[in-house]
Amino acid sequence: GGIVEDLAEVVLSAPETSVTPEERAALNGHSGGVLWLTGLSGSGKSTIAQRLLRKLTDQGRLATVLDGDTLRLGLSRDLGFSAEDRAEQVRRTAEVAKLLANSGLIVIASLISPRQADRDLAEQIIGDAFHEIFVDAALETCIARDPKGLYKRAQAGEIPNFTGISSPYEAPQDPALRLDTATLSLEDATDMLLTYAQAQFARR
Ligand code: PPS
Repeated sequence: GGIVEDLAEVVLSAPETSVTPEERAALNGHSGGVLWLTGLSGSGKSTIAQRLLRKLTDQGRLATVLDGDTLRLGLSRDLGFSAEDRAEQVRRTAEVAKLLANSGLIVIASLISPRQADRDLAEQIIGDAFHEIFVDAALETCIARDPKGLYKRAQAGEIPNFTGISSPYEAPQDPALRLDTATLSLEDATDMLLTYAQAQFARR
């Protein structure tokens, strides 16, 4: 082709990575991927995420947590809790999770991510490395726990669009793994997820 075609090719083609995922997996001793924890506020997502991070790290695996609450202090400080803003929160987190997973990390994303359509988009962004984990706790249980006092305030009408009270939560219909926190202790739920993670991100 001529100079115009050559330039077009340079501009339009995505830069090729000089380090492949396989190389990183060989270096780290395991592949990267995303464990996407979805569940109501107070379901135990953050606690399970942190306990799993500790255990994976103790095993010499490279892992990190992306927590919704924490992301909203920085990357997503401009976002609220409308349906549109939650969709954007999920999209941004999925993009970051993808970058980190492609860099070889086991990413533990902990977000309410209440809409199936938003989680489907996250899966589309991340691809095969996406694992949907349902942290399943009954709304009544979360209301009884109310670790941050948010349900009380939401029920008093002080927090609009609160998930489970004035904003919907769509439970995953076909998650890769369901952690039933009604029958499992936090310790057992974490161990169940650890077993799953060990199988998915096996040592090479
Ligand atoms: S989402 O739906 O995925 O965008 O939510 P996420 O980014 O995980 O943020 C959830 C945390 O925000 C606090 N919070 C609220 N949650 C739900 N609804 C409303 N209206 C709301 N306002 C503030 C709350 O502390 C959530 O943290 P967790 O850890 O889930 O309890």
